[in-house]
Amino acid sequence: MLEHGAATLILGAQYGDEGKGKLVDVLAEHADLVCRVQGGNNAGHTIWVKGEKIVTHLMPSGVLRENCEVAIGAGVVVDPFVLAEEMSGLSAKGFDLRPERFSVDYRAHVILPYHKAVDMQRELSRAKAGAAIGTTGRGIGPAYASKAYRDGPRMIDLTTPSYFDAWLAQHPHMEEGLSSDVRAALMGIGKQLAPHLKDVAMMACNRMAVGGRVLVEGAQGAMLDVSFGTYPYVTSSSLVAGACAGGLGIPPWKLKNVVGVIKAYATRVGNGPFPGELSGALETRIREVGREFGSTTGRSRRVGWLDLVALRYLARVNGLTGLAIMKADVLSGLEDVGLVTAYRDARTGKIAEGSPMSAEAWNAMEPVVEFCPGWDFVVSDTSETQGQPQPKDSPVSPAYAHFLKKVEDFVGVPIVYASTGPERTEGVWLGPEDVPFGALRP
Ligand code: GDP
Ligand code: IMO
Ligand code: MG
Repeated sequence: MLEHGAATLILGAQYGDEGKGKLVDVLAEHADLVCRVQGGNNAGHTIWVKGEKIVTHLMPSGVLRENCEVAIGAGVVVDPFVLAEEMSGLSAKGFDLRPERFSVDYRAHVILPYHKAVDMQRELSRAKAGAAIGTTGRGIGPAYASKAYRDGPRMIDLTTPSYFDAWLAQHPHMEEGLSSDVRAALMGIGKQLAPHLKDVAMMACNRMAVGGRVLVEGAQGAMLDVSFGTYPYVTSSSLVAGACAGGLGIPPWKLKNVVGVIKAYATRVGNGPFPGELSGALETRIREVGREFGSTTGRSRRVGWLDLVALRYLARVNGLTGLAIMKADVLSGLEDVGLVTAYRDARTGKIAEGSPMSAEAWNAMEPVVEFCPGWDFVVSDTSETQGQPQPKDSPVSPAYAHFLKKVEDFVGVPIVYASTGPERTEGVWLGPEDVPFGALRP
């Protein structure tokens, strides 16, 4: 179970798209409140329930479970048009999105058409200089920039048209893309959302004060963190554990469990360093089998081996208490599976110590890859035809167990969950019950 009176953070521990949405959906069955706390609709979290695919962008993935409330915290940047569309799609499917169940912090900042236009323009000019980031084009960076400039409107400002008009008169450059029709539609959405706007920070604290279980749904992956990621090839928000507490507005010490989500391999969308990146037939095979195409933009994801150097770094920065490893089924049938265990600096030929500090240093990093024997099946199979009998207490196959042990030993963080397929029922809980994150076991 999730711990009562505390929060559990599900944090992407690679470059995003690790399978956070699936894990949040699995755990939300035991949560009282599920919150998004940073990023915006650059996120795309895919969940499969009984063969039906549901993708959330702004809505916390807990929305699919009836037992919990869901909320968007103050640290998120909200595109109201996207939120309204997502709400109507989910309501049409029968999910409860009444204001009693779904809240948005009134302090969350708004993404306007202007921000999306600036995002695109800046990408174009960076591309001309050969330095495109490959953003999602959703206006995320410019919206956070407006927040830092103290120029941007907040969700509460959409609820009173006269306030919004007065704000717009002070910031005329943000009128771009706000024709009278678009403006009227925006005010309509503001009115619709007004009953949902609350002090989500206080809500989360109040829930925990009476023993409630809060699940925090991270977005993106910590290697895309604006301070600790592969800058400048990062997103524009802080994604690390401490910042997630801040994005919701709860004391950091209330985050009792920080679960880093990883795949058994790695993917990255957009540009930037990616030690361990694969190419050719193997990359294509993993991309096709793993359906590695962006949930938000449809772009092909770059594919590589699991990078233990980066993971160990993120375990330290975030204080990971457990790891959830996803998608090992995608690698089934490979003769061997690689793990990046060091970086070699091409400039000196030596093994690099610590994290690369500059873009040049990142470019010079060559991966040292160690190989483990591959597996044909992820979960133990005792049938005579498919595998040899397994010890009763080992839910995963011997070859995969060996791989997991290597990851745990290198990173120093126990693996608590192994996902074996996209459906919410496909996965096993690992590790002894008495370890602190054993509390995570449903
Ligand atoms: P998120 O952004 O971290 O929530 O991840 P995405 O949803 O963008 O991408 C993860 C993809 O992997 C989704 O399509 C999931 O349905 C899928 N997925 C999650 N866990 C597993 C797994 O164990 N096996 C397989 N084959 N697919 C999985
Ligand atoms: P989820 O929550 C993967 C990447 C973009 C780009 C960089 C900056 O689904 O894991 P931005 O639009 O944020 O300014 O783009 O960050 N990126 C993601 N990659 N998963 C995500 O979210 C991402 N959100 C942003 O591809 O490289
Ligand atoms: Mg995603």
